[in-house]
Amino acid sequence: MQNIFEMKFAACSENQAFARVCAAAFAARLNPTVAELNEIKTAVSEAVTNAIIHGYDGNCDGNWVFMRGQIDVDEIFIEIEDKGRGIADINAAREPLYTTKPDEERSGMGFTVMEEFMDEIVVESALGSGTVIKMRKKIVK
Ligand SMILES: Nc1ncnc2c1ncn2[C@@H]1O[C@H](COP(=O)(O)OP(=O)(O)OP(=O)(O)O)[C@@H](O)[C@H]1O
Ligand SMILES: [Mg+2]
Repeated sequence: MQNIFEMKFAACSENQAFARVCAAAFAARLNPTVAELNEIKTAVSEAVTNAIIHGYDGNCDGNWVFMRGQIDVDEIFIEIEDKGRGIADINAAREPLYTTKPDEERSGMGFTVMEEFMDEIVVESALGSGTVIKMRKKIVK
């Protein structure tokens, strides 16, 4: 069983809910449990929020977030990409409690949540050109 999708949406915070619903609808054909579905939705929310808030500094205008998905047998792959500022130190960014926006109620737990809920997270980023988060999760039968 294989399937793919690709979409782009404006980098507005209201689209965070839209993106998580899209990812959940796409994942549904793997018959995930409610818990697995919530894990996928939460991981997607964290990545999309990061793209909007950090990648584009919350500036929705003219900025796009790209989301791609693939289902391959019993695994779902989701990529979230922005073409924003990029991450200076990826290893530091992935550490629990690391945040560059401590004064905006950020707790630095987004990557930790993604890693907890998905089986694999790959981060590719270049300063000034953007960030891609690649996630993989196996849906247990
Ligand atoms: N798409 C991105 N573009 C640029 N920087 C990013 C991006 N995603 C994450 N970062 C950087 O990585 C840091 C850690 O991200 P993480 O999601 O773990 O924490 P946070 O977003 O700061 O806080 P929280 O997710 O708990 O609200 C961010 O503070 C930011 O500096
Ligand atoms: Mg975050």
